[in-house]
Amino acid sequence: NLDHLDDVWLFGYGSLIYKVDFPYLEQRVATIEGWARRFWQGSHDHRGTPESPGRVATLVEAPGVECMGVAYRVSPRTFEHLDHREKNGYLRFFTPLWFSEEESVDGLVYVAGADNAAFLGPAPVDEMAEQIARSHGPSGPNADYLLKLAGALSEMGAHDEHVFELARLVEDILMARP
Ligand code: BEZ
Repeated sequence: NLDHLDDVWLFGYGSLIYKVDFPYLEQRVATIEGWARRFWQGSHDHRGTPESPGRVATLVEAPGVECMGVAYRVSPRTFEHLDHREKNGYLRFFTPLWFSEEESVDGLVYVAGADNAAFLGPAPVDEMAEQIARSHGPSGPNADYLLKLAGALSEMGAHDEHVFELARLVEDILMARP
């Protein structure tokens, strides 16, 4: 329970990077250590359907790896609202969010792991690109999620070959077969 806190830092590494539909008190680019962003989480409710799930970002443990995202300082009330939206089967924990090499705060991270009902796990990169290129759900094309995220990460100067390679492959597929 986080009710005793005045505010909460929340780490966004997927859709929270490019689609902010909640009020926040402060927003800063931040990096966490020991986690890598991977399109290993299935989406049958937003970017796909139960018959044809899409792929969205989750984090997997990766010692020595840094993951850049966006940290939001939110009120506990805003946080409760987000928590309802995001918590489905996600593991939640506090970890340092680094704003620079000297400055960090403890913030909350949500991770969908192998125990999550919608978790898909790894697949060959061409298969993941095909799946993303053809999946659509109530929130729109799966490709939009990937390409918006890749665009935002690129603007932030993030190094994320997993995301950038998937984005190149999906763009190629859509160019050849719109
Ligand atoms: C995201 O950034 O996409 C995200 C953040 C928290 C929970 C789930 C997803």
